[in-house]
Amino acid sequence: MNSMELHASSGSTKVVFGDSREFLSSITGRTEMILVVDDNITRIHGGKMNGFPRIVLEAGESAKTLKTVEGIYHELMDKDVDKSSLIVGIGGGTVSDITGFAASTFKRGIPFGFVPTTLLAQVDASIGGKNGVNFNGYKNMIGVVRQPDFCVIDFSFLKTLPLEQLVSGMAEIVKCGAILDPDLFLLVEENYGEIISLDAGRLEQAVSRTVSSKMKVVGEDEMDGGERMKLNFGHTVGHAIEKVASLPHGHSISIGMAAESWLAVQKGILPSNEARRIETLLKDIGLPTRYKMNMDEVLEAISKDKKGSGDSINIALPHCIGSGSIHKVRKEEFKDAVKRVCA
Ligand SMILES: NC(=O)c1ccc[n+]([C@@H]2O[C@H](COP(=O)([O-])OP(=O)(O)OC[C@H]3O[C@@H](n4cnc5c(N)ncnc54)[C@H](O)[C@@H]3O)[C@@H](O)[C@H]2O)c1
Ligand SMILES: [Zn+2]
Repeated sequence: MNSMELHASSGSTKVVFGDSREFLSSITGRTEMILVVDDNITRIHGGKMNGFPRIVLEAGESAKTLKTVEGIYHELMDKDVDKSSLIVGIGGGTVSDITGFAASTFKRGIPFGFVPTTLLAQVDASIGGKNGVNFNGYKNMIGVVRQPDFCVIDFSFLKTLPLEQLVSGMAEIVKCGAILDPDLFLLVEENYGEIISLDAGRLEQAVSRTVSSKMKVVGEDEMDGGERMKLNFGHTVGHAIEKVASLPHGHSISIGMAAESWLAVQKGILPSNEARRIETLLKDIGLPTRYKMNMDEVLEAISKDKKGSGDSINIALPHCIGSGSIHKVRKEEFKDAVKRVCA
């Protein structure tokens, strides 16, 4: 199995590409293992987990609450789990965010690992150590930064993932290429068809490059003070769209990347042909780059962004494909770019 290591101040993660059942079986003799899954994963992929004790959560974002975490604590106590045990979250980003938070806080922290089953979780949510739940209507309000011990990327799960979810995950790959890694961007430009149709070689190339780009910035800036903020490209406008239009995460940040690219063009930071290249790739993949929405609602949601202070927001903008930096942008400067994508 191919593997890579992430070293950060809160811990290290071994990222392994291969058969998750084989990996889990190889460590099962050494430690007691409890799986946390959602009801879809256990229904569709339960066979891969036979023989392991399981905690089953309701599928979807609405389960990302302190109440769900409390339920996990109860089950861990019933099962006499202690620091010598290992909790493994198998599922999409909701399962990994919840599992990582429950494991990081139970008995002041027990070891945990992930088997991400959506493309978005494989390239983004399961890497980097951000774990948490939503609170009082706000996303990821309660959480910790703590790295999982391991993350097993097993592409066989993606065969059952609905196309919309797969395409949503592609947005995070494009984001990494656009702001961090020109070769990754080119790889996706030339092979997006094969990647979406799960061609094993191309998929592994794209996912491992995205993971290693993310690992590099997390290794340098685990607590999100500088370099890691680049991973927010497309997310200031994208999060506002997610709130207003209820689109999947990747679809929202795709529109967000289109808007923020044009903002960069307007500010004279990014040449317009580079912005067009980003927009064209997103469209080719099947992601939206505009959507019928109320522009004032989007602008209102942007003005509440938690990375803002006073009348400006710090956002990551590309200078060219594969490179960018953080810029202070006045809230009114978003207007033209948002107008462009609200059609
Ligand atoms: N911690 C981070 O750094 C980070 C980064 C990005 C996103 N996130 C979080 O990730 C979450 C979104 O993750 P997601 O997009 O993976 O969504 P998800 O976990 O809600 O999964 C989406 C749906 O797909 C189903 N599913 C999962 N794997 C499947 C498979 N292989 N086959 C069939 N169905 C499958 C799930 O049961 C669910 O219904 C959000 O809560 C977001 O905040 C966290
Ligand atoms: Zn994202």
